[in-house]
Amino acid sequence: MTSGARDSGSDRVLVVIPTYNESMNIEAVVGRLRAAVPHADVLVVDDGSPDGTGEIADRIAARDDAVHVLHRAVKEGLGRAYVAGFRWGFERHYDVLVEMDADGSHQPEELPRLLEAIADADVVIGSRWVPGGVVRNWPWHRELISRAGNVYARLALGIPVRDATAGFRAYRSVVLEKVRIDEVVSVGYCFQIDLVLRALRAGFRVVEVPIEFVERTEGESKMGTDVVVEAFARVTLWGLRHPFGGGRP
Ligand code: GDD
Ligand code: MN
Repeated sequence: MTSGARDSGSDRVLVVIPTYNESMNIEAVVGRLRAAVPHADVLVVDDGSPDGTGEIADRIAARDDAVHVLHRAVKEGLGRAYVAGFRWGFERHYDVLVEMDADGSHQPEELPRLLEAIADADVVIGSRWVPGGVVRNWPWHRELISRAGNVYARLALGIPVRDATAGFRAYRSVVLEKVRIDEVVSVGYCFQIDLVLRALRAGFRVVEVPIEFVERTEGESKMGTDVVVEAFARVTLWGLRHPFGGGRP
């Protein structure tokens, strides 16, 4: 179910960037993004970062009309931040909603390739684990968790996606409206698997394009054991509910 080959250049694009303690990264990433994709608007969704990320984002927004900030009082996880950001985007009728990390791991200069691909797809995943995909500077245990987690998700859910946890994506807004993101309960990075599964089950066309993922040089990852445990538990549950590839549309 493709929404038709539309010229991605005429789409209204919103890039949603969730932040928690990214004061050392936010300015640079927004600057690179504005240079790389000038026609895209930006929404920073900050969960009350104690390091002042929200205030820095406010200062950027004050001098650039294309940049907006959504402040949330408490840290509720990546999933909740994205749901709030997407809702903001629906209300303003954007055609394409993009997910991107604030820490430089997702290179804004690669976003035009994702946007080109969405002219002929409903969801585009910037993928580390397809041919041509690269990960720079990840410790071996992070690579192992991601690779093993993705193999498990692919087999347990029967989905044809190589990088189901990837956080650099473009969605046609209709996809997110159709899959009822308000009902998504996944909190951590498992939110990413949840959304791709919902999109596939709803019959949308998902494509992966290779990216070069560069591990952050500033600040810290928010991934903890809780994030891994949630993903493992939910994937197992979803897999049991729809055995033998029930994830396939
Ligand atoms: N608002 C908000 N609230 N933002 C958050 C929260 C939260 O609770 N937790 C994390 N973030 C933001 C970070 O500030 C960053 O911009 C982005 O979400 C990703 O967080 P990282 O902590 O840098 O993630 P990572 O590098 O460990 O994980 C990467 O790999 C995961 C697994 O493949 C990312 O690409 C994830 O998107 C991906 O799922
Ligand atoms: Mn990161």
